[in-house]
Amino acid sequence: MIPSVLPTYNRAPLAFVKGEGAWLTEADGRRFLDLGSGIAVNALGHAHPALVKALTDQAQNLWHVSNLYVIPQQQALADKLVDASFADTVFFTNSGTESCELAVKMARKYFYEAGQPERVEILTFDGSFHGRSSAGIAAAGSEKMIKGFGPVLPGFVHLPFGDLDAVRAAITDRTAAILIEPVQGEGGIRPVPDADLKALRQICDENDLLLILDEVQCGMGRTGRLFAHEWAGITPDIMMVAKGIGGGFPLGAVLATERAASGMTAGTHGSTYGGNPLGCAVGSTVMDHVADPAFLAEVNRKSALLRQKLEGLVADHPDVFEEVRGAGLMLGLKCRVPNVDVVRAGYDNLVITVPAADNVIRLLPPLTLTDEDITEAFTRLDRAATAVAAP
Ligand SMILES: Cc1ncc(COP(=O)(O)O)c(C=O)c1O
Repeated sequence: MIPSVLPTYNRAPLAFVKGEGAWLTEADGRRFLDLGSGIAVNALGHAHPALVKALTDQAQNLWHVSNLYVIPQQQALADKLVDASFADTVFFTNSGTESCELAVKMARKYFYEAGQPERVEILTFDGSFHGRSSAGIAAAGSEKMIKGFGPVLPGFVHLPFGDLDAVRAAITDRTAAILIEPVQGEGGIRPVPDADLKALRQICDENDLLLILDEVQCGMGRTGRLFAHEWAGITPDIMMVAKGIGGGFPLGAVLATERAASGMTAGTHGSTYGGNPLGCAVGSTVMDHVADPAFLAEVNRKSALLRQKLEGLVADHPDVFEEVRGAGLMLGLKCRVPNVDVVRAGYDNLVITVPAADNVIRLLPPLTLTDEDITEAFTRLDRAATAVAAP
């Protein structure tokens, strides 16, 4: 009999009932160190007092009004995002998938309005992940995601990851944009080298293409800069954000330049919940923390500390781990044994990690984790690795 919850997830037998900082308490009372943050969502950890206050204060006054009206909390968050980024304008969504939908629509509308309606194709890369909608799975293009869900939405050209020559060769008079995650998340924590991001920006400029960055997982301070592309010294035309921006409240956004967004006039797009007062009150508070240079400096310091510990872990367990990779607090351990075995051994040793493609386990801890949490992370991962090596 089918479970009452549609069984599209292979769930671990863990039911958490409380969260505090980087710690989760299971129904049976066990305390787990959370190095997953709900897959890069709880950027400020669990139950951060400032977020609890922002949410409850707003809840006392007004939860939701339609986008048919002015929403001051939305205006405030948009202003903060515009001030802190390349963007001139922001549309709020409820998820990364929805941000992907708008990014694709926006790019196509731009060329439609520019008198080039044939320019609809978007170049994407192997191993990418942009969500589970029809456009999201078509953009990623992997067999695993699209099989059985045809007809696949046309207009995406899939290229090998890291192959700039393939990008240049794929550009035709139908090409509209390049869509890429600066650090692939689901694909196995694969950073795009700064030089490649610079080259992609240049290719877009030379061919009048739009550069769309998917920073749903790697944005909002995760890599130690507010947005990951800042490391490469480039800016996109359109950027997708979600996950960390809501700190656990379902919130996403598409940021864009005035030029790229110029086709999106009244009536061309919408969302019932996107940017409602509750979500934006929380998102604004997340922004106040994450955009603070002192906060980002701490992310970088803690990243160096965690990375150093993980390098030690790899050296101590060469049969279990191959390498550490990633940026900031978006780190991956490439495994020599099945990654799911390591994740499971982590559960047994009260530490949560997240599997990814390419046999990687992901460490996406709250950006607020403490130095003591990092020491504890090493201890627990070390025990998990020992258990996997000698089952
Ligand atoms: C890079 C990237 N884009 C898009 C998405 C989809 O976001 P959501 O699950 O919020 O729809 C994800 C989710 O994992 C992601 O990592």
